[in-house]
Amino acid sequence: MQTPPGTPIIQVEGLRVAFFSREGVVKAVNGITFSLRENSILAMVGESGSGKTVTALSILGLVPYPGRIMEGRVLFNGVDLVTMHPEALRRVRGKEIGMVFQDPMSSLNPSIAIGIQVEEVLLAHTDATRQEARIWAQELLTEMGLPDSSRLLKQYPFQLSGGMRQRVMLSIAMALRPKVLIADEPTSNLDTTLQAAILSQLRKLKQEHGTAILLITHDMGVVAQMADQVAVMYAGSIVEHAATANIFQRPAHPYTWGLLQSIPRLDDASRKLRPMGGRPPDLINLPDECPFLPRCFKASTLCRASPRPALRPLQEGHVVACFNEIKHE
Ligand SMILES: Nc1ncnc2c1ncn2[C@@H]1O[C@H](COP(=O)(O)OP(=O)(O)O)[C@@H](O)[C@H]1O
Ligand SMILES: [Mg+2]
Repeated sequence: MQTPPGTPIIQVEGLRVAFFSREGVVKAVNGITFSLRENSILAMVGESGSGKTVTALSILGLVPYPGRIMEGRVLFNGVDLVTMHPEALRRVRGKEIGMVFQDPMSSLNPSIAIGIQVEEVLLAHTDATRQEARIWAQELLTEMGLPDSSRLLKQYPFQLSGGMRQRVMLSIAMALRPKVLIADEPTSNLDTTLQAAILSQLRKLKQEHGTAILLITHDMGVVAQMADQVAVMYAGSIVEHAATANIFQRPAHPYTWGLLQSIPRLDDASRKLRPMGGRPPDLINLPDECPFLPRCFKASTLCRASPRPALRPLQEGHVVACFNEIKHE
């Protein structure tokens, strides 16, 4: 049975991240606030470059140079990860917060056998012996639907297909039944069968262990299947956040509406994929007004004359950053 989403386990508050590049200060994340709740999946969607990956990396304390967290807190069980000692943060990462990224080739060590890499995680965070870790690793890989796990343990990342590598990464991420899982486009580049298998593993993790999952994806089909809540990102800000059904049935921000229009629909073959016109703003020279204004079909004189709108509540659990939101009956 489905239990309702629980208490917030990660609270991101007023997060700002900038990259100090040669060309200027790239304002990648501009003051976002959201929570991940136990036993709940939050999908984060938005065009490429909207700040989704940087947000994920911020939670994990992995923002790369020349990026910096300028402001904000990331509370994990009430403790701020942003100011936590790097050593303590490393212990949280991998044990209590698992992660899986789009390209597992970059997260797996190419010169170390798969078995050793899975075992390392178990040895680092538990008091298992090497032999116990080996058996455990084999079980984890089998559970992830990887066949012939004893052979797999001896193989190297390059010997596996992309889908197998992704499942190895998931095995590692889920090995210690983390309370939180950050999954950044975990099924892009995979065929639909593999995608379905991995998504069902994520759902299982949520249902059986109450894991809070941040699922970053550009696939609205995945969102519809998986997410309890959706946060829509645009130019480093959350522009709408609501329960999944509300996002699909009552999208309030014109950008959210546009995202939904751009999905091809199986029930209407004549309806072509309609990519949204225009481009997101330059993050080095962000305008003071609403960053979506130049692309917006609802733009008004109020929008042009005002600083960018803040998120405000429409109804229970549904917030939008727009002066002229779309109204539904
Ligand atoms: N290493 C970097 N140096 C400079 N800018 C970066 C770097 N990484 C990311 N950015 C900037 O941060 C923005 C957000 O990136 P990202 O979070 O990866 O977007 P998304 O995951 O939504 O596609 C990008 O538009 C880019 O301008
Ligand atoms: Mg990304």
